[in-house]
Amino acid sequence: MAKFLVKKSAPLNGEVKISGSKNAVLPIMAATLLTDENCEILDVPALRDVDVMCELLSCLGATTEKELDNNRINVRADGEISSEAPFELVKQMRASILVLGALLLRTGHAIIHLPGGCAIGERPIELHLKGLRALGATVDEDQLLKGIVDARADELHGATIYLDFPSVGATEVIVMAAAVAKGTTILENAAQEPEIVDLANFLNKMGARIKGAGTDTIKIEGVEKLHGVSHHVIPDRIEAGTFMVSAAITRGKILIKNMLPDHLKAVIAKLRECGVYIEFTDDGVLVDGGRNPLVSTDIKTLPYPGFPTDMQSPFMALLTVAKGPSVVMETVFENRFMHVGEFNRMGAGIRTEGKCAIIPGNKALKGASVVATDLRAGAAVVLTGLIADGVTEVSQIYHIDRGYEHFVDKLKGLGANIERIED
Ligand code: UD1
Repeated sequence: MAKFLVKKSAPLNGEVKISGSKNAVLPIMAATLLTDENCEILDVPALRDVDVMCELLSCLGATTEKELDNNRINVRADGEISSEAPFELVKQMRASILVLGALLLRTGHAIIHLPGGCAIGERPIELHLKGLRALGATVDEDQLLKGIVDARADELHGATIYLDFPSVGATEVIVMAAAVAKGTTILENAAQEPEIVDLANFLNKMGARIKGAGTDTIKIEGVEKLHGVSHHVIPDRIEAGTFMVSAAITRGKILIKNMLPDHLKAVIAKLRECGVYIEFTDDGVLVDGGRNPLVSTDIKTLPYPGFPTDMQSPFMALLTVAKGPSVVMETVFENRFMHVGEFNRMGAGIRTEGKCAIIPGNKALKGASVVATDLRAGAAVVLTGLIADGVTEVSQIYHIDRGYEHFVDKLKGLGANIERIED
């Protein structure tokens, strides 16, 4: 299995360009199944999750043309579409569930084995199903008990749906299904993430009539047919946030290009509380981690526009070396503290109590053999490796390949001492 060897590095310096958003492109790729015309997607990051979604679309009957060197894919779902998503693919990526609404609309039937994905606690889909039932689908309860979603619908119709929690995936599945359902759907307590807005923009270009994406109430007037389009994916806010933290933790100075600061307000505010200098320039966002002393702050993860759960572990890496203690509260996922054990192997001395991690801070970290326990935790241990004495060996880096495009090359371009070792 491939590994990263990370050595203590000088402060990172230079420029980095942020790639297209993983979490935006996956639902957009799923939405291409809603039309039989060609869809071109641009600024697509070259990532394992994108490969898996391409394979899934092909297995379902779409023609996909992938040019990831040019960050471009084409999808044309003009043939017969299959109702069943192959388990071999679905188990590799939780986001496979995003094809649920499109399969129902195209074939009247969808069969999906409940997926794996990041190992970060229970990740149920009852809200996705609640929405689809409200739109007129029936779900086989016996199959569901066996972990298989087997849903049918001759026709979907508009409805008013309240989400008990603003789930990103449920919002995306329901918006896609409602886009071509008969009548009007009102989705209340919807997720407000920028990736939802990007999906709505994509669907609206295809001819959908969606209003309010980015707020907690989305109104979707169903249309009869959607058509093919070309669309640029938004920049990845979590990749941008990770590079901001890389400047802060190494006390370096990085100009981050192709980043939308509006999507990272919470992260920017928290970095500033830690003493990190951040300036918005015409060329990009300048992050200077060496200008002021690094001090601690508390964070609490929340749905957007709150502090993103996907930035929790990279930020915790920073707090291990900031002056003073801090508390990190994870409210979005259960069990998203797997990285704590890895940080502690490096000497971080973190304690967890339920939803909270208590970080003493001010630690001198030492290199160790650590595991990328999930995608973001993987990036986080790489960041600690950059400032730890000695060598940090990071295994299970396939998690990192799922979501950070050219991670090693980008870090090396900033002066990081990191190598990928293929076994
Ligand atoms: C998406 C992101 C992921 C991010 C997460 C939260 C993608 C591909 N992934 O994941 O990177 O960490 O949003 O910002 O976009 N929940 C329920 N019932 C449901 C659905 C969700 O209880 O039916 C719970 C989950 O268990 C979890 C929380 O809601 O605790 C957030 O899940 P959700 O917003 O659905 O995240 P994903 O769409 O899976």
